[in-house]
Amino acid sequence: MRAEQNEFLTRTGPGTPMGQLFRRYWLPALLAEELPAPDCPPVRVKLLSERLIAFRDTQNRLGLVDEFCAHRGVSLWFGRNEENGLRCSYHGWKYDVTGQCVEIPSEPDNPKLCRRMKLKSYPLIERGGVLWTCMGPAEQRPPLPEHEWAMVPEPHRFVSKRWQECNYLQAMEGGIDSSHVSFLHRHTMTVDPLFKGAKGNEYNLRDLQPHFEVVESPGGLYIGARRDTGDGKYYWRITQWVMPSFTLIPPRGDHPIGGHSWVPMDDENCWAWSTNHHAMRPLTHAEREALEAGKGIHVPLIPGTFRPLANKHNDYLMDRSAQKDGGSFSGVEGFAMQDASVQESMGPIQDRTRENLVPTDQGIIMARRRLVKAAEALGKGATPPGTDPSQQRVRSVSIILPQGVAFSEAAEAALVPQPGSAHATV
Ligand code: FES
Ligand SMILES: [Fe+2]
Repeated sequence: MRAEQNEFLTRTGPGTPMGQLFRRYWLPALLAEELPAPDCPPVRVKLLSERLIAFRDTQNRLGLVDEFCAHRGVSLWFGRNEENGLRCSYHGWKYDVTGQCVEIPSEPDNPKLCRRMKLKSYPLIERGGVLWTCMGPAEQRPPLPEHEWAMVPEPHRFVSKRWQECNYLQAMEGGIDSSHVSFLHRHTMTVDPLFKGAKGNEYNLRDLQPHFEVVESPGGLYIGARRDTGDGKYYWRITQWVMPSFTLIPPRGDHPIGGHSWVPMDDENCWAWSTNHHAMRPLTHAEREALEAGKGIHVPLIPGTFRPLANKHNDYLMDRSAQKDGGSFSGVEGFAMQDASVQESMGPIQDRTRENLVPTDQGIIMARRRLVKAAEALGKGATPPGTDPSQQRVRSVSIILPQGVAFSEAAEAALVPQPGSAHATV
């Protein structure tokens, strides 16, 4: 990859081509529980290199506005959330959820001045336990998102987020690279309560040379990884990538399905959103307990923050003896931090001019191409793939298929399911 191509793909600030593409999608911005009640404390949100403030006003309306006061630039995080607006704590200018200034206490006789003061603002809507925003032009805002995890009843779902200290792209690339599972996650797969016991795990561990086949879907990619079952059939794991950065992990047994959204905070940090859901049933008490304890694809966090307990600054609590004696392939505990540790180790933005790709990287190659193509087409007025809700209502699949059939045809009904049907899983 040339350096300019890497820049093109990884920069998402205002005015950049990839930033413009991301701004055309509904993206997870906060957990709904971060703004639990009317007039609760405002929350700082950094997205696509923009510093914003989210708040819930007296009438329960949600606002996402520029973090800084139009007067002299004080952070509105210090503001008072009261009587349907956020009041700057420096000189008392007050803003409503649309960012409109509604009061300048020192200029009560100058309503014109007040009306002229309007902070940049974005919509904020609640769906699936998450507050979503769309930071692009209002006229081109797509319909609300319909990813399955966000649409199932609340007891069927668990959502968490963590701060990851690297560019979104290398994090997302980990999410569509299922060849690393047999190595990096080798031991964890057989012991984690949200993974263990599935028949599919045996195939994962037996065949370390998966064959990849990647097919374009209307909203992204179907990334098929094929492993031998040992009895003349193939075990397929089909990951969904939905543009711009949503992934769905193929299921294991009856465990809830995992998925991620990788949302750029700025060019060197991203939010790793992790979801689990079950289409057919509420999560069990034991599952919810494990999810809350940071098992599966979630992590234990430093209380009061979204920073993982094991992180870059403590070498992820690396356990060299576990790495040596086979207790853990990587020495880092848990799927999420195994992923985050290797991805953050690439540096804040991976230098892709120095990489050497092999056939198992096919999904990554095609995802990059599709992102570049969509960002370029946007300039010519094309609607980005993955913005239509029908393209988001897809599922990951694990399935045994005979040899010699195309997975995207043989598994078609499972990849784009009818509502209320069960997942195809092994
Ligand atoms: S800086 Fe906000 S009111 Fe003066
Ligand atoms: Fe992983």
